Amino acid sequence: MNKNNTLFSGATPEEVQQDLLPLVDFKSTGQSLVDIKRLLEENLLPHLMRYDHAGFQSMYNSIPEQGAALGAQTALAHNQGVTNWQVSPGGAMLEELCCESLCRLFGLSAQADATFMYSGTYANQEALYLAIHKKAEHEGFDFGKQGISGFQDPSRLVILTSTDAHFSIKQSVRMLGLGDQNLVALQVNANRQIDPHQLQKTLAELKASRDICCIVATAGTTSTGAIDPVEPLLEAAQQCRAWLHLDGAYGFSFSLLPEYQSQFQGIDKVDSITWDPHKQMGIPIPNSVLFVNNKQDFARIALFSHYFNRKNSSEPNPGIKSPPSTRPMSALPLVTSLLHQGMDEVREKLRTPLQNIGRLSAYLMAQNDFRCWHEPDTGVLCFQHQPGHVPDPHWNDLQTFIYESILSEGKRSISVTQLDDAVVLRMLVMSPHINYADLMETINDIRATGTRFTDTEKMNP
Ligand SMILES: Cc1ncc(COP(=O)(O)O)c(C=O)c1O
Repeated sequence: MNKNNTLFSGATPEEVQQDLLPLVDFKSTGQSLVDIKRLLEENLLPHLMRYDHAGFQSMYNSIPEQGAALGAQTALAHNQGVTNWQVSPGGAMLEELCCESLCRLFGLSAQADATFMYSGTYANQEALYLAIHKKAEHEGFDFGKQGISGFQDPSRLVILTSTDAHFSIKQSVRMLGLGDQNLVALQVNANRQIDPHQLQKTLAELKASRDICCIVATAGTTSTGAIDPVEPLLEAAQQCRAWLHLDGAYGFSFSLLPEYQSQFQGIDKVDSITWDPHKQMGIPIPNSVLFVNNKQDFARIALFSHYFNRKNSSEPNPGIKSPPSTRPMSALPLVTSLLHQGMDEVREKLRTPLQNIGRLSAYLMAQNDFRCWHEPDTGVLCFQHQPGHVPDPHWNDLQTFIYESILSEGKRSISVTQLDDAVVLRMLVMSPHINYADLMETINDIRATGTRFTDTEKMNP
């Protein structure tokens, strides 16, 4: 773990642009690989973010785990497309076996299946497509053939999700030919989880005028890492015959921990789940998975062609479970990573960030100059620094000031977000190598930066 060097160059966008222009100056004559390597080392690498740096405490990115790196190198060397048997017998079979094994590992239903995806965003999008398709079946038509216009009144369709859901849900709704009016936000409780009582109220309000086709729960919301309560949402979805999708892009990994079993109770009945091994698991980007509760669910998106992915072919063709006709061998880095570490080590590495964030939360809650916005469900904590010398009306500005000042120094990275009307600082731990002392250094830095706020224009206009 890199503790001494800076996180990245700290250069401005203009400076980075100047450095990178030679890279895109495509000439008639080529350059040697040695020269290109030097160009990359001097002009690009200093500006890349170092995810192995102890001060990187802000985003869902990580350096590849060693076993994963071996798999990724092998995948790159052979550049296999894996969507069907013809392009890669070994790649296609490995992906199918890996998906089956993951379903067992996560304790999903015996009929469950999965597909690798380019990103969590696309996994969410496919899940919503499947949900609307199923709704159309209830209404007696084939969504694949008739599309949205098959619904008597598409404006009645509703997808329910938390106010804190990732924006890819809204994006998916739009991409599927619906609009923002088809997405209804569910209120969250003080811990930023969907509140089941509010959900029941919303269902009652919508009952007469709208048709709920999907409820989206999140395991590990982007801003606060909150885990929505799966069981009450499952009941609600069954009550209105809606699909339940769990966006576990970040947090589904934690269901592998025995101490999280109660939060993930009912997971074997959820219709679909998004999971991003390229987040907490340290697998190289892109690495995402979409699980479905019943393998037949993928038939709703399957398209066959005459030249490959032929109907009724007996060989494995993973490509019929998701749109891309070319995908990389994403299963391999995940397979080699789990093989190399063993599940005991995987679980231990998942635990460490949670313990450190839990300790940080306990510390901050006992401080007069900090206010936590939630108890952490996972490895994310949002809070405000509220030192005595800054009056309440300036707290939002102070958080932005601290965030910008710290980022501009290039030594550490925290993030900032907004929860309701409050601007809050956000610390996120991905790496098991970041320890509590590293987090406390950031808190000290926040305090030191906060003292400089008195001099700013905002305090003394
Ligand atoms: C909860 C959640 N869902 C979905 C996504 C989107 O995943 P991806 O970045 O892989 O597209 C994110 C990204 O941070 C996320 O936090």
